[in-house]
Amino acid sequence: MKGIVLAGGTATRLHPLTIVTNKHLLPIYDRPMIYYPIETLAGMGIREVMVVVGGKSVGDVVELLADGAHFGLDLTYRYQRGALGIAHAIGLARDFVGDEPFCVVLGDNILRGPALDGLAREFEAGPWGAGTLLYRVPDPERFGVAEFDADGNIIGFEEKPAHPKSDLIPIGVYFLRPEAFDVIDRLAPSGRGEFEITDVLNHYIPGRRLYIRIYDGHWADAGTVASLLRAAELARDDDEHGCLRPPTQRPAR
Ligand code: DAU
Repeated sequence: MKGIVLAGGTATRLHPLTIVTNKHLLPIYDRPMIYYPIETLAGMGIREVMVVVGGKSVGDVVELLADGAHFGLDLTYRYQRGALGIAHAIGLARDFVGDEPFCVVLGDNILRGPALDGLAREFEAGPWGAGTLLYRVPDPERFGVAEFDADGNIIGFEEKPAHPKSDLIPIGVYFLRPEAFDVIDRLAPSGRGEFEITDVLNHYIPGRRLYIRIYDGHWADAGTVASLLRAAELARDDDEHGCLRPPTQRPAR
């Protein structure tokens, strides 16, 4: 399986912190934000990773991560012009992905807990076309929100609804296959002008082709000032409680 980290976007919700720098370089406790999704993929045993970069200080992101050898990874980069959405950013990785299933992790998602390799293997071996992990949050209106029927079957995701139909959201981890690029090609931009990942996931719900599992570790995004602080506290607390944490990786000099 190949991996993709999305580190584009404009991060306006973090202004003034991100006026002159890339959100993914901001510190989360003891390391730059982008280390977390990189470590999530490395922890799955994935070796080949593309980082989609965009926005400010792109050169600094590349300088920080370099060739990825200090994470045991082989990194490659792709530039996203503009912030046209998560699905658009994924679409830029078509040639990199080739024929393999792949895992996308959003650059501002912090996961602390069990590695995802077992879930990735289950997805890869199964009949599903796409997959994601769900997490219960107190503020679902900030995210994509899952809706279920009376039998508990998922019937759709809504992106940032004013009236959320549940408190379960898809976190920024997506298991996909190359066929997703055709789905992305056919997407129309949403009302906010973005190509939405939730529209990609919704495509796979009919026929039960969407793999979903509840993520049973700890999760936070770091896209707003409040969540940036919460993410740092999560990273610190898990450190103190000896939660699974790969050793800190330092760039070779
Ligand atoms: O964190 C989970 C949530 O992430 C999901 O529940 C939502 O369904 C999903 O849309 C996304 O919502 P956000 O509003 O948090 O996404 P955001 O615009 O903050 O982008 C998340 C990451 O994706 C961010 O680290 C940068 C990257 N990105 C984003 C956009 C819009 C790109 O690389 N390119 C882009 O064009």
